[in-house]
Amino acid sequence: MNKIYFGDNLPILKGMESESVDLIYIDPPFNTGKTQKRTTIKTVQSENGDRKGFQGKSYETTQLGTKSYVDSFDSLVDFLRPRLVEAYRILKPSGSLYFHIDYREVHYCKILLDEIFGRECFLNEIIWAYDYGGRAKSKWPPKHDNILYYVKNPESYIFNSGEIDREQYIAPGLVGPIKAERGKLPTDTWWFLYVGKKPTDTWWQTIVPTNGKERVGYPTQKPRKLLDRIIKASSYAGMVVLDFFAGSGTVGESCLALDRKFILVDNNLASLEVMAQRLSKANNIEWIGFTPPHSHMEEKAGIQQTDTDATPIFDSEYLMLAASITHLQAELEKSDDWNDSPFEWILHLPPRQKGMLGRHLVASWCKSKDLLIDKPKDSGESLVINGCKVAIKFSTLWASGVYKFQQIRNDDSDYVLCFGISPKEAHCWVISKSILKQYVIGHMGQHTGAGGQDTAWFSVEPHKPPDWLSPCGGTLDQAFTVLKSLSHRK
Ligand SMILES: C[S@@+](CC[C@H](N)C(=O)[O-])C[C@H]1O[C@@H](n2cnc3c(N)ncnc32)[C@H](O)[C@@H]1O
Repeated sequence: MNKIYFGDNLPILKGMESESVDLIYIDPPFNTGKTQKRTTIKTVQSENGDRKGFQGKSYETTQLGTKSYVDSFDSLVDFLRPRLVEAYRILKPSGSLYFHIDYREVHYCKILLDEIFGRECFLNEIIWAYDYGGRAKSKWPPKHDNILYYVKNPESYIFNSGEIDREQYIAPGLVGPIKAERGKLPTDTWWFLYVGKKPTDTWWQTIVPTNGKERVGYPTQKPRKLLDRIIKASSYAGMVVLDFFAGSGTVGESCLALDRKFILVDNNLASLEVMAQRLSKANNIEWIGFTPPHSHMEEKAGIQQTDTDATPIFDSEYLMLAASITHLQAELEKSDDWNDSPFEWILHLPPRQKGMLGRHLVASWCKSKDLLIDKPKDSGESLVINGCKVAIKFSTLWASGVYKFQQIRNDDSDYVLCFGISPKEAHCWVISKSILKQYVIGHMGQHTGAGGQDTAWFSVEPHKPPDWLSPCGGTLDQAFTVLKSLSHRK
């Protein structure tokens, strides 16, 4: 079970079992001396709006709230020491700690961590460089954070170099096509692009995009890519990752995606609120000291929140349209069962191509069974099987568990063959015109009015077919028996 605690991390750490977590990532306040703040706004289209957006339309902005925490300590080291002592105790012997800080405090923290872990346990200083924010004119613009990487036992620790995502070479031409395609292992500076335009103090990798989907409106949110890389490198699936300065819960989101367990702690209510929203899809989280709201309707209804540019929210009529067909969603959505099916690709075809593919499938199946197959001269939708004209209808299994065969007409074909493909099996029914007239055509109208009498569709749950359909087939074997006897029945 994953855990999220609301409260000061020191007593919570003290209550945790020794040698119980595999990986710790922490991104404590950097002691910037400021209150870290981010204001989130909602924008609605309005004639008197204060912002201009897409196609010159005006939008009115409403402040939804400001999330902040205080980032000022008399001594960051004194604050961190007891917490890092606990972190060391809680870490398993094969465990690692990634400590995220910036250039102002990194040296003091390095000495503190050397004291607690031992200098021999320090493996890297990762420089995470980005190109964002103001540019000082009086010094080299600082554009990087530092991540100190310690292990508890330098003789035995987890480091999955094969799991680390590779980066592009700057000059692929110099390394040959194979190496260039494979990329290179990231260095501790994680560069892939040298920012030559204006010199910064190091190399560059992007931050959480200001107006991107990933942004949750919490100050100092770190990019998922950064955490994914750390977690993949220094843990295996099922292992436990601890972040006791959790903020917006980036570690939690990465762990859910990478199949790791997590323990998160933060003492700021705004952080817990953001995490409740961000991790709302997970139902395997125990919340301690905080009750998450049951639903985040705004998010689920698609209302977007942004902390920068104007983004129109959906208007009420549009949302009403979306709500009016949510009941159809389950029917139309692809179920996960298809993921391993050899026919999964069919789902992406447009209906016309699906129909054509259905006829090809039926024709090649009939041929493989030595049935006599021909194409009638007048119609592209039918086949002549054992001398009978047979209209072919094709359906893949819908998410609601039924086949839907469409456009069944009272035309000059002798039979209608309904062929269905499910994720793991196929079904086939060969239905005579008289049976169709009795149960389908004129009973399950596809169109209203006069046409409805003639054009029908019908749905079949393959494992619960109606009684009248039983003599017409079901499995491919049963359908083959019916097809073999066609010419005799005609
Ligand atoms: C730099 S932010 C972490 C951001 C996070 N890595 C993310 O991606 O969103 C530091 C967090 O530490 C929290 N914090 C500060 N002092 C704390 C304490 N004593 N106990 C628990 N959390 C604390 C703050 O509320 C803040 O959310």
